[in-house]
Amino acid sequence: MLDLIIKNGTCYIDSNLQIQDIGIKDGQIVEIGKIESESKNIFNAKTLIVLPGCIDTQVHFREPGSTEAEDLNSGSRAAIIGGITGVFEMPNTNPPTSNKKEFQNKLSLAKKRMFCNYAFYFGATPKNQSELSDLNSLEGCCGVKLFAGSSTGDLLVHKEEDIEKVFLNTSKIVSVHSEDEDILNQRKKLAEKGNVLTHQLWRNEECALSSTRKIVKIAKRLKKKAHILHVTTKEEVDFLSQNKGLITFEITPQHLTLISPDCYQNLGTYAQMNPPIRGKPHYDRLWYAIRNNYNDTIGSDHAPHLKENKEKEYPNSPSGMPGVQTLLPVMLNHINEGRLKLDQLVKFICENPVKIFGIKNKGFIKKGYDADFTVIDMNKEIEIKNENIESKCKWSPFNGYKFKGTPVATIINGEIKMKDGKILGDPSGKPMKFN
Ligand code: DOR
Repeated sequence: MLDLIIKNGTCYIDSNLQIQDIGIKDGQIVEIGKIESESKNIFNAKTLIVLPGCIDTQVHFREPGSTEAEDLNSGSRAAIIGGITGVFEMPNTNPPTSNKKEFQNKLSLAKKRMFCNYAFYFGATPKNQSELSDLNSLEGCCGVKLFAGSSTGDLLVHKEEDIEKVFLNTSKIVSVHSEDEDILNQRKKLAEKGNVLTHQLWRNEECALSSTRKIVKIAKRLKKKAHILHVTTKEEVDFLSQNKGLITFEITPQHLTLISPDCYQNLGTYAQMNPPIRGKPHYDRLWYAIRNNYNDTIGSDHAPHLKENKEKEYPNSPSGMPGVQTLLPVMLNHINEGRLKLDQLVKFICENPVKIFGIKNKGFIKKGYDADFTVIDMNKEIEIKNENIESKCKWSPFNGYKFKGTPVATIINGEIKMKDGKILGDPSGKPMKFN
């Protein structure tokens, strides 16, 4: 007897949409086709699209340290409401996840508290190289996170010789927050009190490009893989499109949707993040990257901060905005408006994360693969409202936006954990496995 059958869905299989049934047993896909066998659980997916489980490869869930803004449980609830079946969570917590003890602590905090599957980044510091060498044997570790410029938290590795040591000492991929610390320090005086529009002047294009050039130079010289997170400038798009291979990069949904100066006029410090939302020429070139598949992933950089902190006067206001719940509605709406195709999105949030980070058994609807699915309705219209944000921070930069296309069910390890916006059952996410 099968545990679950997804019936008559339009399923994304072998890069095509095809109407099939999917049979699930013990958390895995065991049959695809016209299924005659029985199950107590049937999910009728007629008229719906069944995608492989979508993975958000950049979220900050704030536990331990700032659990008033988010914790692993609340962040994972926001994820599954948003159709996300797995997350890579960032190490800039308090204390940071930069030693084995803290890493194991995160794994135990996640157990039976996270609804979605998960992996954690190991944070690099100038002094923890000896910790980085055996990360391949560490359960649930997706890679090393390196902050080349300061952002939220204390993690920072900005000297070239220290960055080199991080790459040399790990066989995991190094994902980089790429802003140049020296330039950030030199330009900090440009951040004008009370004027969030100056955020992009302080953290300017040169600051991003200079760091990205440095990282690419080091990674290529050492023949190591680097993943540049949240790329925001046209200069980086042009540079990175000439340096594909060992180097991969991410773009966020907010940089593909919000544009300066309007976003700062509308949202004030709620639009403040690192690296910043920039003007139309950058926005256009990010879309040019998407059209040409220059970027490899789309990640939300879900960075919840409490409203009371976001409302502090700039630059005392923290940088970051939530996004794990809205990644799919935002991007599905872009698909409906003709800016990208569904098969591209599947590459960016299912297939490429699997290839780049070496996740085992996920990213594709195939026999023997894990039964993680994101079920979407491309015609359903929704309005994002702060009150419906599952994250503890209870706000979204997209409050009031109407989107067409939204997740309607999230199936994780063969169990329906979200249906029609309702969370079902208990948290049973598992650590992802890596090659
Ligand atoms: O704006 C940001 N906020 N950028 C980051 O890189 C970190 C994040 C956070 O953790 O708040």
